[in-house]
Amino acid sequence: MKKIMCLVASAVALSGAVQAQSKEKTLIAYFSWGGNTREMAKQIQEQTGGDLFEIKTVELYPTDYNECVNVAKKEQQAGTRPPLAAEVKDIVAYDVVFVGYPNWWGTMPQVLFTFLEKYNMSGKTVVPFCTHGGGRWGRSLNDLKKLCSDAIVLEGLAISGNLVRRSKDDVAKWLQKIGITNSKQQ
Ligand SMILES: Cc1cc2nc3c(=O)[nH]c(=O)nc-3n(C[C@H](O)[C@H](O)[C@H](O)COP(=O)(O)O)c2cc1C
Repeated sequence: MKKIMCLVASAVALSGAVQAQSKEKTLIAYFSWGGNTREMAKQIQEQTGGDLFEIKTVELYPTDYNECVNVAKKEQQAGTRPPLAAEVKDIVAYDVVFVGYPNWWGTMPQVLFTFLEKYNMSGKTVVPFCTHGGGRWGRSLNDLKKLCSDAIVLEGLAISGNLVRRSKDDVAKWLQKIGITNSKQQ
């Protein structure tokens, strides 16, 4: 009888350990110039319980739209890698990394190239999301996948910038579809 109790106790302890391991750590890294992508990142954060990280450049972009558009175009043509203003504390600890950005000139802003070249996504699950002015992903998914070649890249979500404040349900449906639940409540 004592032996059986011991076996039951160790089985319970083991299942607890497995459960603890299955709690995946989630990061939501995003860049936003005008606030749309930040809003989408916050909705993802609320629904997944992940950690938010804002990708910021050392040199800020002009606040004027047309000026920003020009700077971004020049950066893209030159293949610039704008330096990051802040570092992710412990990227190794994360299993799932959401990567969010606005569509800039048909792809990711150049600072996303800096980010994805700096942080190795090998073995992680990467989940792209973007906001846009009509061009949806552009060629950004191809560019992102090239930089995350050893990661599992899940189906992303692209939302038009002017619909982002009404997109909580779409975000919820998408997260459910790709099988991502609140990592802090599993
Ligand atoms: C520099 C710049 C370039 C852009 N290029 C595109 C583009 O090529 N295609 C598109 O659909 N939208 C483009 N947009 C619109 C943004 O993708 C859209 O407004 C987005 O929601 C902005 O996100 P944010 O508020 O997080 O910065 C551009 C905006 C900026 C500022």
